[in-house]
Amino acid sequence: MLGNFTFSNPTKIHFGKNSIEKLYTELSNYGKNVLLCYGKGSVKKNGIYDHVTEILNKCGKNITEFSDIMSNPTLEKLNDGRKLAKDNNIDLILAVGGGSVCDMAKGISATAYCKEDPWEKYYIQGKEAEDKVIPVGCVLTMVGTGSEMNGGSVITNTVTKQKICAIFGERAFPKFSIMDPTYTFTLPRYQMVSGCFDVMSHIMEQYFSGNDDNVSDYISEGMMRSVIHSSLAAAKNPLDYEARSNIMWLAAWALNTLIEMGKSTDWMVHMIGEATTAHTDATHGMTLSAVSLPYYRYIMPYGLHKFKRFALNVWGVSPKNKSDEEIAAEGLDKLEEWMKKLDLVMSIRDFGVTEEMLDGIAKSALILDGGYKILSREEIKEILKKSLCA
Ligand code: NZQ
Ligand code: ZN
Repeated sequence: MLGNFTFSNPTKIHFGKNSIEKLYTELSNYGKNVLLCYGKGSVKKNGIYDHVTEILNKCGKNITEFSDIMSNPTLEKLNDGRKLAKDNNIDLILAVGGGSVCDMAKGISATAYCKEDPWEKYYIQGKEAEDKVIPVGCVLTMVGTGSEMNGGSVITNTVTKQKICAIFGERAFPKFSIMDPTYTFTLPRYQMVSGCFDVMSHIMEQYFSGNDDNVSDYISEGMMRSVIHSSLAAAKNPLDYEARSNIMWLAAWALNTLIEMGKSTDWMVHMIGEATTAHTDATHGMTLSAVSLPYYRYIMPYGLHKFKRFALNVWGVSPKNKSDEEIAAEGLDKLEEWMKKLDLVMSIRDFGVTEEMLDGIAKSALILDGGYKILSREEIKEILKKSLCA
């Protein structure tokens, strides 16, 4: 049964080829001082930086640059950005990049004027944004996280080796996001497929939880079929606009809060994946692919009905003469086949993880209780070990 909820998604989306032209009108809604956030240089190589700065200049904005934002952005970097935003009296933070740049922009947005320790308040205690929030706009260049249409911001504390998602809530959602699928054409294949798996994982995290009949699960099944189809088409031909645009739109809907409304969710793959990144700096989507199969195979008996449904409705497994366990297991085998076709990372060994590191990673993982089995640290370690030996 659907639980009670309030749904609102305030992010305005400008989608499609040349949607960057919408930046002119968007900019007219904000003051002069713009903090332009971007990563390690891809936007300079592919020309997106030139285009965006041309528009900013034509609109008479004062640009303060905040560059070199790393993948898996750190707390140290966030603190640099907060200072820059405050010192320059920033009116709009414009993120030009992928999830890391968008997350950093939202982190600065919600914490620049925070008088307490923002790590403690927002990332550890998980409070919703309550300080002054600087508006954020995104120009998306990498697809997967959904950060362009939600209020999350994932930051790594390199001292404590914790990677945590702050959920700032509606006030900190981007005010607008510009999503031109052609901007993703220059992504290296590794990043593209990693993003595709991130999308699939977001849907699975919300799907594999609960025993009720819930409309979200039906929506999720359709979305998963679309991710599978479009990812294979994009892997074959990265310039396939139809596939790339479907993946871009799917990514936003997979994590813009729609499919979690009124239902429980799991998120343990992300908890284990993020703990892995905190110890290795590995690419987000690939950490998820490396731990997913050991995790799902382990919890399958506890949520058998949903794994059977996944096999039947997402993968089209035939139920004829098979037990529920056999059907469910075949669904996970199909998931594995698809992952291998995309050349996803299947073992945490590929990130340099060794047996000696498993205790530390297991200790860094937050343990949540929304899935079919509440894991102990020992069980997390076992799942990591299975991935290590895969
Ligand atoms: O830094 P540059 O030079 O820009 O290169 C980036 C980076 O190396 C490159 N790239 C981006 N767009 C490109 C491009 N290269 C060529 N052409 C383009 N058009 O791609 C690399 C990865 O970028 P990044 O932003 O790090 O990837 P992603 O979008 O996967 O973001 C990952 C971060 O988002 C967090 C992850 O934990 C991770 O820190 N997440 C955020 C979530 C959220 N806010 O809701 C949820 C997710 O589950 C996730 O945890
Ligand atoms: Zn993710």
